[in-house]
Amino acid sequence: MNETINLLKQHRSIRKFTNELVSPEQLRDIVEAAQSASTSSNMQAYSIIGITDKELRSKLAELSGHQVYVAEAPVFLVWCADLYRYDQAIKLHKDEETEPAGMTENFIVATVDAALAAQNAAIAAESLGLGIVYIGGIRNDPAEVARLLELPKGVYPVFGMCIGVPDQEPLRRPRLPLEGVYAENRYRPDKVLEAVHTYDHAHRSYMISRSQGKSGITWSEAMEAKASRNRTHMREFLSRQGFHLK
Ligand SMILES: Cc1cc2nc3c(=O)[nH]c(=O)nc-3n(C[C@H](O)[C@H](O)[C@H](O)COP(=O)(O)O)c2cc1C
Repeated sequence: MNETINLLKQHRSIRKFTNELVSPEQLRDIVEAAQSASTSSNMQAYSIIGITDKELRSKLAELSGHQVYVAEAPVFLVWCADLYRYDQAIKLHKDEETEPAGMTENFIVATVDAALAAQNAAIAAESLGLGIVYIGGIRNDPAEVARLLELPKGVYPVFGMCIGVPDQEPLRRPRLPLEGVYAENRYRPDKVLEAVHTYDHAHRSYMISRSQGKSGITWSEAMEAKASRNRTHMREFLSRQGFHLK
């Protein structure tokens, strides 16, 4: 196994950070690594907003469901899917109305672009000995986040990311068995439940260790609990933000 694969396999989310700062050089390397990710048709349809203002940070922590590490992490980045820049570039060359930038295909492109760039940043940060956690909680109230960050139409916050020096050493969270996610030549519905049962066991053991015996929730139980907490406001928010999903 090489160093890169080793690093990738050691990933675990970090939710407690020391006070040590992330240097501007480190942040620059992380953002440049993000920019090096593959991007659909070179659209680079994302923007990254670093939140350095303490008050704004507290507000975002609160909006994310009171996740304290959002306020406390040395760096907090908001990853936005961005079709505003794309639209502006087109308008330099075309006066008449074209297909709205925010149609379904471009929504997918921009969201995927933001995620690919973010994951490059995550790996870059981890390679520097830093820890990260993604924050989907910023989509709890995306309209308020968009207002606070002054996001124009065509830009929406996909997730946040805390970055800093780890002040904890959490256990690695096990994943589904490989056969549960990889198949050759065709999808294998017959393999699904077998993988879920196997993973339920591994997940329960992991949760018992992580919680010192307080929780032994299985993965399928966790998914059932999650299913009732969906962000059903997203479709309407996206439409108001200029993503018309046509
Ligand atoms: C898009 C995305 C959003 C996430 N949002 C949150 C979040 O709001 N709060 C949090 O503590 N973890 C969040 N996570 C972290 C996941 O819970 C974590 O990656 C997953 O449980 C696997 O654990 P691991 O990263 O430690 O391996 C998020 C992860 C992703 C990819």
